[in-house]
Amino acid sequence: MKTYVLNGPNLGRLGTRQVDVYGTTSYADLVALCQEEGRALGLDVEVRQTDAEHEMLAWLHAAADEQAPVVLNPAAWSHYSYAVRDACAMLRAPLVEVHISNIHAREEFRQHSVVSAVATGVIAGLGVDGYRLALRHIAGRR
Ligand code: DQA
Repeated sequence: MKTYVLNGPNLGRLGTRQVDVYGTTSYADLVALCQEEGRALGLDVEVRQTDAEHEMLAWLHAAADEQAPVVLNPAAWSHYSYAVRDACAMLRAPLVEVHISNIHAREEFRQHSVVSAVATGVIAGLGVDGYRLALRHIAGRR
């Protein structure tokens, strides 16, 4: 069974995007880090990123059908996409929402995530380490 690590808009620009907020780890580094952690934990990890909401919805529907666990950084969709939230609500295995930055310490519009209420748990502000910790949680629940 796959464990999906799904990333929303602009996260493909990690490493050059607002490095003061998101750090210097590139998206390619993030993919490698998740795959490495997955290997160490015995998880079959697949990492994806999209800027297209309909593509994210299709991935979430597939994860629901497969009853696969998901680590999701919904990025800006966190704050306004009821469509992403509704797709997350259909998941049947753990969903860990991850934010690289501490959204609670940032602009007011970032402090609320419409996804969080349907997530198993949320990790924010621990940088890319949040992805490692999310995978460890998923591995521990199997
Ligand atoms: C983010 C926080 C969001 O507010 C922002 O839109 C992102 C990334 C994070 O990982 O800290 O794109 O989800």
